[in-house]
Amino acid sequence: MLQPSPTRTRQHAASRTAPTRYLSPLRYPGAKSKLTPLIGEMIRDARDRRALHGHVTLVEPFAGGASTTLRLLTDGVVDRAIIGDADPMLSAFWHEAASAPERLVERMSDEFDRYLAIGGDVAVARWDYWRAWQPELGVSPDETRATLAVKCLFLNRTTFSGILHGSAGPIGGRAQTSDYTIGCRYPVDGLAERIRWIGHLADTGRLILVHSGTWRETLDLGVEFVDDPQELVAYLDPPYIEKSDRLYATGFEGSGRAPDVWRGIGPHQALAGYLLTTAPFRWILSYDFHPELLANGLLYGRRRTIPTLDARAAGAGAWRIKNYTVALQHSASTQSSRRDVKELILTTL
Ligand SMILES: C[S@@+](CC[C@H](N)C(=O)[O-])C[C@H]1O[C@@H](n2cnc3c(N)ncnc32)[C@H](O)[C@@H]1O
Repeated sequence: MLQPSPTRTRQHAASRTAPTRYLSPLRYPGAKSKLTPLIGEMIRDARDRRALHGHVTLVEPFAGGASTTLRLLTDGVVDRAIIGDADPMLSAFWHEAASAPERLVERMSDEFDRYLAIGGDVAVARWDYWRAWQPELGVSPDETRATLAVKCLFLNRTTFSGILHGSAGPIGGRAQTSDYTIGCRYPVDGLAERIRWIGHLADTGRLILVHSGTWRETLDLGVEFVDDPQELVAYLDPPYIEKSDRLYATGFEGSGRAPDVWRGIGPHQALAGYLLTTAPFRWILSYDFHPELLANGLLYGRRRTIPTLDARAAGAGAWRIKNYTVALQHSASTQSSRRDVKELILTTL
């Protein structure tokens, strides 16, 4: 578990004003920032109805670019947040931004000055360097994490569509003959501001934990953290049912200790099994729309959750499952063109 340290010094005064445009420093395939206002409304309404109460903690176990968490924390819709991701590069990035933002800002700026600003072969060679870079034995965990964080940010901001792995190449192609060249999505000042804001959210006790691991581990940390599960709400944005292998470095692995009927029949069912039978807290789930999600009883083709006796004892109810479909336009595909997508939001709020 990675926990931002509350006691650290800053080399420079951190910005205290939230960056207004994009709160996440990461460009993320499938980023759900357009759904965030709706998610925020659901949480506000649940607070008014006292379906959620006290200081509300959000847990986002498939954090990716964490745009939803950052927005909801910044707007004060939730009081605290825990994020996690199974991709070690992403969790290293979030840990570093939360616990050592100035170090990350410095290294991020250095990458620009020494490579991207020069452009051409020099910049593409640096892109190849980061693609090939792997943690080395004998290097301290702190240094490894700091370097992984830079790798994550550099590749995310210089690779076509922000894709961190696979066959996607550098923006502008290897020849760099396009109008858009490798450094065009790497705004040093804007990135510095966004990274410092994450450090500030951690310093002020709002971003409380960054976990490197599976969704189940991150959710368990959320449950342990709160006194009452009604103070906890999860936002889950798992990898797509289709395409996820191409988009994310970490494909979706089943890791839920779900009841027998759900075990071994796919990661999406394992997640559904946990949310439907075991989770003692309310949740909001977003998916790229797939008809199977609402048709299959082992997914979300049911009206209510069916908590086990243990889950009931821990605070779960037979909560109604509401669903909403939302039309969005984004560039989650590996093609450059934007496309219309239908999102499904399921919630027990
Ligand atoms: C759809 S993306 C999340 C995007 C995010 N909502 C955003 O707006 O940027 C799914 C994320 O889940 C992560 N992931 C895949 N399998 C996981 C698992 N078993 N546990 C936790 N995270 C996982 C991937 O690394 C990826 O970052």
